[in-house]
Amino acid sequence: MPRLETGRGVMGKNVVIVGAQWGDEGKGKVVDILSEYADVVVRFQGGNNAGHTILVGEDKIILHLIPSGILHPGKVCVIGNGVVVDPAILIEEIEALEKRGLFHHENLLVSKDAHLIMPYHKKIDNAKERLRGSGRIGTTGRGIGPAYADKVSRCGIKCGDLLREEDFRFKLKTNLLEKNHYLTTIFHEEGYEIHDIYHEYSAYGEKIGRYITDTSVFLNDSIREEKSILFEGAQGTLLDIDHGTYPYVTSSNTVAGQAATGSGIGPTRIDTVIGIAKAYTTRVGEGPFPTELDEEEEAHLREMGGEYGATTGRPRRCGWFDAVSTGYAARVNGMDGLVLTKLDVLDGLKEIKICTAYRYGGELIRNFPTETSILNACEPSYETMEGWLESTQGAKDFSDLPRNAQRYVRRIEELIGVEVVMVSVGAERKEAVMLKNPFC
Ligand code: GDP
Ligand code: IMO
Ligand code: MG
Repeated sequence: MPRLETGRGVMGKNVVIVGAQWGDEGKGKVVDILSEYADVVVRFQGGNNAGHTILVGEDKIILHLIPSGILHPGKVCVIGNGVVVDPAILIEEIEALEKRGLFHHENLLVSKDAHLIMPYHKKIDNAKERLRGSGRIGTTGRGIGPAYADKVSRCGIKCGDLLREEDFRFKLKTNLLEKNHYLTTIFHEEGYEIHDIYHEYSAYGEKIGRYITDTSVFLNDSIREEKSILFEGAQGTLLDIDHGTYPYVTSSNTVAGQAATGSGIGPTRIDTVIGIAKAYTTRVGEGPFPTELDEEEEAHLREMGGEYGATTGRPRRCGWFDAVSTGYAARVNGMDGLVLTKLDVLDGLKEIKICTAYRYGGELIRNFPTETSILNACEPSYETMEGWLESTQGAKDFSDLPRNAQRYVRRIEELIGVEVVMVSVGAERKEAVMLKNPFC
């Protein structure tokens, strides 16, 4: 619990950041801003399916695994037990940051209990997508689903296993017996030789072994020492395995509750939950999307917002802000505050729509249904607001925003029932208006 006021914020305050839509809401940018007030930044789920972009001056950095707090010197960045780790990507990311002078060994910890993404996970991910054909999920192809499936099936291999040669070899051997059979007979793909993977992963173990530890002990000690922790969610609420638009979801829990499970702290240690939403909506991959615009209509949002995936480069599907789905995200996360990003993308629009309800079976519904067939049959009911046709960029204070932009933000706040704590008006670090600091 927060205890002591300091000039910087409240000591010992723990804040969770989650995506309130289908991912890519600008979590990286917001975490980068809030990291200044935290001592520790933790990733608690997902893997390198995430792509968190941070723009510092001309420098664009996309992080997939390492928490976005790494850009602030002296912050300890933790990859929690709930994450699935592709060690090759982790090493690539460390080396890329090192080249820019942004990495210090003592600032990274990786949970011994985080599961490893293995080469066969990536192959199975892609082979399953091919087999699904038109029913594909549109995964990132990073092996995320198969790695989490092994974790739940109790045959996964953990980061900590890299530290014990015999354990690793035994688990790999057992897995390959099954995986090679599965790959060759079901997918007609080639299998793997144990020594190839063993040597590859032993080399990874030598490089990342120094970071692997019991991060739950570290985090709980940090809480006892009244340090402030920022939990950085990946993906978004509507991609959550339980609460999202299943089966068009990712394979982890993306909601705030996972911050505790995925890092080894108790839920009683979380003080504040902040949801991040764009001022409109996007989605990458397949699945229902009630406010999606047709190709011509979405062009403005896609081009002005640069809506191309940070991980796969795929064009993102774009649509109006959906108060039904974002209100649902507020509910399942117990959201205390909302950050609205990319308001500047709406600057050139004469009229802006907000979906306030769905029309389904002759009725108006306001509780988000997660079933694909129901969502596909839902027609958004819109409220139209006047645009502001002025630039929001450079705003430092809420009152600097054009009057209609202020109205738009307040209307969203009213519809969602959650206070807006920050408005982002550009990709750059400084381009944001903080209404209330979640750490204070
Ligand atoms: P994340 O996965 O939630 O971290 O989001 P991504 O990094 O995948 O996508 C968000 C994109 O929007 C990135 O390219 C950011 O640089 C950019 N961005 C973030 N906030 C703003 C903003 O307020 N305005 C504009 N124009 N771009 C933003
Ligand atoms: P960040 O953290 C947007 C989507 C994929 C696909 C589905 C399943 O940058 O917001 P997966 O590879 O996870 O099995 O794919 O989830 N997806 C994301 N969409 N942002 C992300 O992460 C995503 N991570 C996964 O496009 O539809
Ligand atoms: Mg992203």
